[in-house]
Amino acid sequence: MAARTPILAGNWKMHKTHLEAIQVVQQLSYRLEDRDYEHAEIVVCPPFTALRGIQTLIQSDGLRIQLGAQDCHWEEQGAFTGEVSPAMLAALDVAYVVVGHSERRELFGEDDATVNAKARAVLAHGMRPIVCVGETLEQRDAGEAEAVVRRQLDGSLAGLTAAQLDDVVIAYEPVWAIGTGRTALPSDADEMCGAIRARIAEQHGQGVADALRIQYGGSVKPGNVTDLMGQEHIDGALVGGASLDPEDFSVLCTYHRL
Ligand code: PGA
Repeated sequence: MAARTPILAGNWKMHKTHLEAIQVVQQLSYRLEDRDYEHAEIVVCPPFTALRGIQTLIQSDGLRIQLGAQDCHWEEQGAFTGEVSPAMLAALDVAYVVVGHSERRELFGEDDATVNAKARAVLAHGMRPIVCVGETLEQRDAGEAEAVVRRQLDGSLAGLTAAQLDDVVIAYEPVWAIGTGRTALPSDADEMCGAIRARIAEQHGQGVADALRIQYGGSVKPGNVTDLMGQEHIDGALVGGASLDPEDFSVLCTYHRL
């Protein structure tokens, strides 16, 4: 089976000014220096306003941290007041773009077709989308979790080729676990990530599915990351709250030593 490089990504959401963001990354890289994190990709996804500052810091200090964005529009440019295009992100050396986060889906009305358009645009600009899927508590209690996630997955990835899927990361984030302190049981999270992989195998073959990286997200902390990362189908974490604290995030990124 293809070895999958673990990917730990911090989603800072609407936190940190550009100056605070630089401080967080400086502190993070300082802490990471003493730890062995060569085995994994470390990504920070600050607000748009902080991207340029962090890009400069990564370049000038030669950091092994990669830059991510939390969202983007799907058009190259145009009359879309308030939006940021994938071309603008690519020009800032952004490597990953989160698309379809549940907060975008719930609070800003994004549907799977929108998420699909964004994922395609990200790929077209040589970046990698982190495509988020996940059920609500209501849907889980109704026994619909897998069907919901499968629908989101099919819609969000519609029309992507096997070659494009090589550059896609999926983040399974049950909505009820985000920012609540309530993590999915590692075995439940693994079951869903396994179901995601099986769906991709059905559509694109086992080789593509085996190479696909799937993150778990939802209240990942230093105290639960090792168990989660130990699961067969979990290849990384999309971390909100704990990624704002350089100490917590650096510890979390070296989960194999905890
Ligand atoms: P959390 O957020 O780690 O604060 O639960 C995760 C996310 O929304 O990506």
